[in-house]
Amino acid sequence: EKGGYDHFMLKEIFEQPKALRDTLSGRIVENGHVTLNMEELKLDPAELRAANKVCIVACGTAYHAGFVGKYIIENLARIPVEVDVASEFRYRNPLVDAHTLMVVVSQSGETADTLAALREAKGKGAKVFAVTNVVGSSIAREADAVLYTWAGPEIAVASTKAYTTQLLAMNLLALALAEARGTLSAEEISEIAGAMREIPKQVEDVLNAAGEVRMVAEKIKKWNDAFFIGRSIDYAVAMEGSLKLKEISYIHAEAYAAGELKHGTLALITENIPVIALATQEQVLEKTISNIQEVKARGAMIIAVAQEGNKEIVKFADVLLTVPRTHPALTPILAVVPLQLLSYYTSVVRGCDVDKPRNLAKSVTVE
Ligand code: M6R
Repeated sequence: EKGGYDHFMLKEIFEQPKALRDTLSGRIVENGHVTLNMEELKLDPAELRAANKVCIVACGTAYHAGFVGKYIIENLARIPVEVDVASEFRYRNPLVDAHTLMVVVSQSGETADTLAALREAKGKGAKVFAVTNVVGSSIAREADAVLYTWAGPEIAVASTKAYTTQLLAMNLLALALAEARGTLSAEEISEIAGAMREIPKQVEDVLNAAGEVRMVAEKIKKWNDAFFIGRSIDYAVAMEGSLKLKEISYIHAEAYAAGELKHGTLALITENIPVIALATQEQVLEKTISNIQEVKARGAMIIAVAQEGNKEIVKFADVLLTVPRTHPALTPILAVVPLQLLSYYTSVVRGCDVDKPRNLAKSVTVE
């Protein structure tokens, strides 16, 4: 049942190219122009045009996918996006009305808080769009429209292939919004769509370097703390990397917006402490590098994740993990893979129960 892998998590990490291919299938037509099958979605372009804000609500890893979605949707479709964890959204008397496009993200489609947030938003007249992996789940049934991620069953408690397919879904939604709202030219849409098609193969390339990540796990295994830093969309990826490490290896980890470190957290950076620095975003690269220098000057061990051919980062990283180049909106799908592998191997070398971490359930159906 684990298909020759030691754990479900590793199997699911390696299933990502297929999961991504399946999730893209039929949603982008041959000429590279995005169709995002409006019929499948039951979303009216007129409604997408009329929306004045998007609210993304989810828990855990799905929330992190939503956080990436905020950057992508705001950038490509030029519409304000709020992101909330579901257990907070409900109790803050959210400003939601008929012009809000509510997006709920849930692998299982059964998370109690996310479902309650969906109901709350619907009750206030919002259109609810769900991104879920389970056909016929409560969230799929109650939403007005559904974009399924075709990741296949995810058994390991730590979410991997559901997350990367959710990221793809965020891109598809952003393009649908951009198309309906006229914020991108046909060429720009087709360029991103073309880049999306390359992603499954590029994930395969990252997976081929799994052995390097395994060696990094040896370096961080004895640490009780680690930091994940990044700017812009890389900050969102840092959040997911940090959760993954905590969840299955029980190493305390924190994700920080790289520029925010010096406002307090830098005090915790000591000799050899692992800092996993995400540096995939060209437009903030220089700034990220200066943050890396700040922590390096305090003796931190820098494990950098950057795009291939990045000449600058080589000078500062103790360990460099590279990912192929792609459109900036798609880099999280590649950058998270080494972080998933890092958590996995660290969990294994620390002797933890990888697939069933203590205190956690796969689907949280209590509020
Ligand atoms: O099924 P859902 O996507 O709604 O689940 C949300 C979270 O419970 C889930 O992502 C959780 O954070 C994972 N264990 C993370 O790996």
